[in-house]
Amino acid sequence: MITIRQVSKSYNGKIKAVDNIGLTVENGEIFGFLGPNGAGKTTTIKMITGILSPDSGEIQVNGHDIVRQPLQAKRSFGFVPDDPNVFPRLKAIEYLRFIGDIYQVPTSERTERISRLSARFGLADALADRIQSYSHGMRQKLMIIGALLHNPDVWILDEPMTGLDPRSSFVLKEMMREHADAGKSVFFSTHVLDVAEKVCDRVAVIDRGRILFCGTINQMREHFRSESSLESMFLELVGEAGEEAAQP
Ligand SMILES: Nc1ncnc2c1ncn2[C@@H]1O[C@H](COP(=O)(O)OP(=O)(O)OP(=O)(O)O)[C@@H](O)[C@H]1O
Ligand SMILES: [Mg+2]
Repeated sequence: MITIRQVSKSYNGKIKAVDNIGLTVENGEIFGFLGPNGAGKTTTIKMITGILSPDSGEIQVNGHDIVRQPLQAKRSFGFVPDDPNVFPRLKAIEYLRFIGDIYQVPTSERTERISRLSARFGLADALADRIQSYSHGMRQKLMIIGALLHNPDVWILDEPMTGLDPRSSFVLKEMMREHADAGKSVFFSTHVLDVAEKVCDRVAVIDRGRILFCGTINQMREHFRSESSLESMFLELVGEAGEEAAQP
């Protein structure tokens, strides 16, 4: 579970990248975070994961305040960043062992999870290779395996589908569903509206740092009184906000 209350963040004290947002990701749900480029998705995710501190407001992950109880909070989530380019000179298996050490995953569990997850993503034969020899999609999959190694309750993923081939993307969506169905939570940002429409129990749409909509896709349809696709509703939401902002 993730709780965000009245959170704001500006860079250089100027424009608010995130402007007084609030939302809750419940246990048992897949929550999609949608918005155009520069909307504030990554900034929000960086605050949830403790990489950036909010200027104001409060964030809890599994009941732990990320600012006041960072270790407890961090133990409870796995995070896949938007950029998978880390430790290029390490071999993939060395990277995973390093992550296993940091999260103090016992050896037997570690071995079992590495082999199960790498087999599921078709990466098992490449674990002895250096990360610099990996394609973007392979690095992305390695990040996902690393994030799940300590079996976290909460998954937080920033654009996780980027660079994944259809099979891997399918596997990830399947794993997200299994995780949510086991009563845990998944929070991810995406531009891929088809994916959001198919896998998310609820979505939030953010633009210019503000949340324009939060609810189920069906609630969004009721809001628009239409049978539209998520894509056309999204474009309408973001377009409306853009027009308002453009007015003098
Ligand atoms: N390090 C930074 N310094 C200054 N401004 C920043 C910084 N990082 C982001 N911003 C600004 O904050 C706003 C929100 O950026 P953010 O990266 O959160 O957007 P996003 O929704 O993740 O976009 P994308 O879909 O392109 O990943 C943008 O206006 C961006 O230019
Ligand atoms: Mg981003």
